[in-house]
Amino acid sequence: MTDGALATRLDLVDETVTVGAHRFVLAKPRQADALISEEDFARDERLPYWAELWPSALVLAAQVARAPIVARSIELGCGLALPSLVTRARGGAVTATDYYDDALLLAARNADRNGIGALETALVDWNAIPATLGRYDRILAADVLYERRYGPLVAGAIDRLLAPSGCAWLTDPGRVGREPFMQAAAACELRVTVLDAPPVELTQGGAVTLYELRRAGADR
Ligand SMILES: C[S@@+](CC[C@H](N)C(=O)[O-])C[C@H]1O[C@@H](n2cnc3c(N)ncnc32)[C@H](O)[C@@H]1O
Repeated sequence: MTDGALATRLDLVDETVTVGAHRFVLAKPRQADALISEEDFARDERLPYWAELWPSALVLAAQVARAPIVARSIELGCGLALPSLVTRARGGAVTATDYYDDALLLAARNADRNGIGALETALVDWNAIPATLGRYDRILAADVLYERRYGPLVAGAIDRLLAPSGCAWLTDPGRVGREPFMQAAAACELRVTVLDAPPVELTQGGAVTLYELRRAGADR
């Protein structure tokens, strides 16, 4: 699909977003609801939440902007992939993943248009993590616990992808999947701590919590 065809099909509009020292012009669909597909919903109840920039992504992106860069990062349920874009802008290697092709196409397009080079992307459904993915020093995930069933799925994905001394940062505004996530993380021997979230002015939603997960017994 040509760039123009993608822009027309998704009805893209530009939004300027500043994270730390980085300023991005992010193209995003004008109306996420306009992308709802009955076929997608019938398949696995998926809805195009990828097409909005959620407050949790702003907080996670700000956390990435203030922390040292690590060798290999991956973002789960990236949507518009702002934390991945900040990682790239700072020279880090990152794979942005989602189970919507369009999210990945748009994330790569936004990286290109903001002059931060090619963004690696991969189609990843938490129900079946591809065997081709290895282990990562840092896992990023913003607002991915909005269904109860996502709690164990996301914890399982982190357990599968986290390097022995790596850490995962997950931001969450208090979604319904948080408790099942905590239980599943404990069962996988992932230690969860709450970090001080970076100060971010949010225009919508309530407080966002920043969690860090490490393997029990791993060195910091
Ligand atoms: C609420 S949105 C958050 C998007 C982005 N992280 C943000 O905070 O702006 C949840 C994201 O998780 C993705 N997602 C939901 N279920 C998924 C699954 N089973 N596998 C992979 N991604 C999934 C959605 O497509 C969407 O991009």
